[in-house]
Amino acid sequence: MYKFKKISINRHCTEHLYMQLYNSIKDLIINKDIKPHEKLPPIRKLADLLDVNNITVVKAYNLLENNNYVYKKIGSGTFVSDIEDNSYLKGFDGLEGEAYEDIRLMDRGQIEVRENVINFASATPTPHLFPVSDFKEVLNEVLDRDKGLAFGYHDSKGYSPLREYIVKYLEFYKINTSIESIQIISGAQQGIDIISKALLKHGDSVIVECPTYTGAIAAFESRGVKMLKAPITRDGIDLNILEDYIERYNPKLIYTMPNFQNPTGYSYSTNTKKGLLELASKKGLIIIEDDYLNDLNFYTDENITLKSMDKNENVIYIKSFSKIFMPGLRLGFLIVPINLNNEILIAKQTSDISTSSLIQRAFDLYLRKGIWKRHITYMKKIYKERFDTMVQSLENNLPEETTFLKPMGGINFWIGLAPGFSANELYSQSINKDIAFIPGGVFYPGNSESNFFRLSIADVYPDDIKKGIEILSEAIIKYYERSNIRPQRKSSYRPIL
Ligand SMILES: Cc1ncc(COP(=O)(O)O)c(C=O)c1O
Repeated sequence: MYKFKKISINRHCTEHLYMQLYNSIKDLIINKDIKPHEKLPPIRKLADLLDVNNITVVKAYNLLENNNYVYKKIGSGTFVSDIEDNSYLKGFDGLEGEAYEDIRLMDRGQIEVRENVINFASATPTPHLFPVSDFKEVLNEVLDRDKGLAFGYHDSKGYSPLREYIVKYLEFYKINTSIESIQIISGAQQGIDIISKALLKHGDSVIVECPTYTGAIAAFESRGVKMLKAPITRDGIDLNILEDYIERYNPKLIYTMPNFQNPTGYSYSTNTKKGLLELASKKGLIIIEDDYLNDLNFYTDENITLKSMDKNENVIYIKSFSKIFMPGLRLGFLIVPINLNNEILIAKQTSDISTSSLIQRAFDLYLRKGIWKRHITYMKKIYKERFDTMVQSLENNLPEETTFLKPMGGINFWIGLAPGFSANELYSQSINKDIAFIPGGVFYPGNSESNFFRLSIADVYPDDIKKGIEILSEAIIKYYERSNIRPQRKSSYRPIL
């Protein structure tokens, strides 16, 4: 307890008491005054020690948990997370049978969904949304026009008319670049992989948002690098933690999704984006910006990319065409700072020589004919209806103790069970009722347990969203009721009338 005695709470300061407490404990964690897996004092004890209300401590602990500084174990208490943990083997203890197998599969980026299951797990668009007939037309045109050439090997950098057109296409997104910087890739996953191959060696450190995209965890893991976890909040990552990591570990790069992050759906504020760029520029840090969903900005205009503000060439930008066009194209591109061009090109060559010539030529025509703009408008309309239905269903049905921050766009929703409850356990119950989602532990390097889980709207129709969220909410209520532990209410005061 003696470490907590040092905490001083200023009652005359305008900052809320729980925020002061949150920041003080956060500092103790970051400075390693309290060690990973060490238990925090029980709520009442700390409240007595600091002469504050129990609710102040509850709020501070909840915020620490939401930002991944601590984790809770049912019946045992609150423990400090190991935010620099470098062990990736996950236990998934306590889960047996099909549910266990499902979650292990998800951890490897796969999912097997039975018929009749309402699938909130998959982030792959419903196939009937794919622009198949438009694509058939451009494919036929390319075959008539280019004949055998469409099936030859290609320059590893990519088909130059496509690279040239991408430079124009990027003007629409206010990104100024040149054809030399465009590297065609076979999907964003390959982008992450070849950047890792080109720039990282065993033992290097990289910073990842926490939680983050499982495919990135796997790519970094395969390089044997140390992942430093930067907790993600509603405004993006905490720049103080970032600076601290840079100073202590000299990381090679940071992997980010500044808009509609996967899995949380949160976006960095413009200030955080600017702060990140400034820091990267000052410290010579490479930023990977994974832009997999930027177009789905339903309720914000702040979805500006880091790349469009990158004056000092710190950003490697990755664009995926999977979510907005078709994942099976296996097509995307990088914008690479000129000084890294060669290393990235060599890594691409050794990965798959080049991306399919036929697909590059067809997509080039698809862009040049302007069909992409029409398709994006169509996809935005479909997804917005699903997004609004999801928000409304969550607001109407989720039990009060369950948290959810409405994102401003995208396809992912990050839901928090009451502290101490397990999303893995909820999964094993809800899959029996034909509802699938992804338990949060899958998105944390080295962690298998979380009270959070991800719901995606990519592969569900509005009617199924309504029905699915009702069933899921019912399962959550039952889970709370069955447990001996009362979920802590959301810390807000209510009238007793
Ligand atoms: C954040 C993020 N990056 C990259 C990818 C992989 O995209 P692609 O299909 O272009 O390889 C995904 C796929 O879900 C993703 O969510």
